[in-house]
Amino acid sequence: MYLGDLSAVRLLIVGDVMLDRYWFGEVSRISPEAPVPVVRVVRSEERPGGAANVARNAAALGARVSLLALVGNDEPGESLKRLMTEGGIDASLHVDDAITTTVKLRVISRQQQLLRIDFETVPSHEALRAKLSEFEERLPACDAVVFSDYGKGGLTHVGDMIRMARAAGKTVLVDPKGDDYSNYAGATIITPNRSEMREVVGRWKDDDELQRKADALRRELALEALLVTRSEEGMTLFHATGTVNEKAVAREVFDVSGAGDTVIATLAVMLAHGADWAQAIHVANVAAGIVVGKLGTAVVTRAELDAALN
Ligand SMILES: Nc1ncnc2c1ncn2[C@@H]1O[C@H](COP(=O)(O)OP(=O)(O)OP(=O)(O)O)[C@@H](O)[C@H]1O
Ligand SMILES: [Mg+2]
Repeated sequence: MYLGDLSAVRLLIVGDVMLDRYWFGEVSRISPEAPVPVVRVVRSEERPGGAANVARNAAALGARVSLLALVGNDEPGESLKRLMTEGGIDASLHVDDAITTTVKLRVISRQQQLLRIDFETVPSHEALRAKLSEFEERLPACDAVVFSDYGKGGLTHVGDMIRMARAAGKTVLVDPKGDDYSNYAGATIITPNRSEMREVVGRWKDDDELQRKADALRRELALEALLVTRSEEGMTLFHATGTVNEKAVAREVFDVSGAGDTVIATLAVMLAHGADWAQAIHVANVAAGIVVGKLGTAVVTRAELDAALN
């Protein structure tokens, strides 16, 4: 399967951005202050997370990507801006003086995570308003919009933004969070994973029951389609015209974090490029199979995807 030239695809990604930070070090003693290990940090790494990782994944496939999100007036916010520029992304990161940039800091020694430290705060109304008006300005210049919801409050106005985008004829994809999806009504597609799906529709005992629950949710929210990503079981697309299953294709699994970001980014690029549903989820599933074989939140390049598809 040849994907063709994806450089004409224009995506707008909106949502919660975060910085994934890793501190690698050595432990050789216990602290005299408390019964905890002392880590001497020898190396650090940082990667864009959340909506920023979706943006990076879409850009790695060759699409033209703009990103709209909020950061704090701090060093992690600057790091995210730099990482986005390096990834060729046109990032509009509004600085909200009232918040700290969302950071997930892992302290790692000998391949073992010792501690994760999270920094996150809820955005201010002023910053959210400013973001909403910029959304309206940026909308005409894109083919599809991706909302990447990590439940950090950056998508308070997602309902309004979905209505604007659909009224302008754009394809709208949502990676959802929480137990109330009413704000996502009218989107083209939402892409919950198994536990996110369970949180809104409850447990299912077999595929038939999942089918009924997915169809009911799709109708209730007036979605064109609903994609449930099912980790090692692959993914299932529920559409008015039928259901499509894709088996997981990963050869080796090292790190599943960020696989959902790769799925929605690839799906958005393919749909905006004019692919049909079956083609789009096939390519997204192949991309996810590649990314779970990499360490950390990672991206799949166009060359890797071409090699896996042919
Ligand atoms: N253990 C696995 N083995 C094979 N493929 C996997 C595995 N985990 C994930 N995948 C692939 O990645 C896709 C998305 O994974 P998953 O359903 O776990 O999303 P997710 O929970 O949103 O991911 P994350 O939140 O970590 O980014 C799956 O549909 C599948 O194609
Ligand atoms: Mg996810």
